[in-house]
Amino acid sequence: MEELIKAAEAARDKAYAPYSRFAVGAAVRGASGRVYSGCNVENASYGLTMCAERVAIFKAVSAGEKSLVALAVTAATPAPASPCGACRQVMAEFGINEVVMCNTKGERRTVTLAALLPYAFDKEDLPGE
Ligand code: THU
Repeated sequence: MEELIKAAEAARDKAYAPYSRFAVGAAVRGASGRVYSGCNVENASYGLTMCAERVAIFKAVSAGEKSLVALAVTAATPAPASPCGACRQVMAEFGINEVVMCNTKGERRTVTLAALLPYAFDKEDLPGE
C-alpha cells in the first residue's frame, strides 16, 4: 500500500489543473500486482476534465488489466481526499475493493468501495445477450 500511495503522490506532481488549481494524484494496483498512476487532466472546455482516479484506472485497463485490487488517491484537502461519484462507479466496474484516501498532510483513511458506493449499479444486473 505504501508503494501505491507513493505512486499517487508522484502522479499528483504531474496534474494538469490550470483552471481549478486543484491537483489530484491516484494509483491503482492490478491483479498482476503492477501499479498504474494518473493525475487529473483539465480542459478549457471545463466539462471535458478527467479525474486522476479514472486516468489511473483507464491506463491499467488499456494495459490489459481488467481486474483491479486497490486504489490510492491524494490531494491537498483538509480531510483525506474522497473520490467523486463517477469515479466510484468506474472503480466498481473493475472490482476495486480497497480505497486509500490521503491528503498532503499525511492523513490516511482506508475504506471499502462498498462503503463508498452502497447498492452500486452492477453489470450483472444487465440482461444477458
Ligand atoms: N478531481 C479528481 O481528479 N478526482 C476527484 O475525485 C475529484 C475531483 C479533479 C477534477 C478537477 O480537475 C479538479 O479535481 C476539481 O474538481
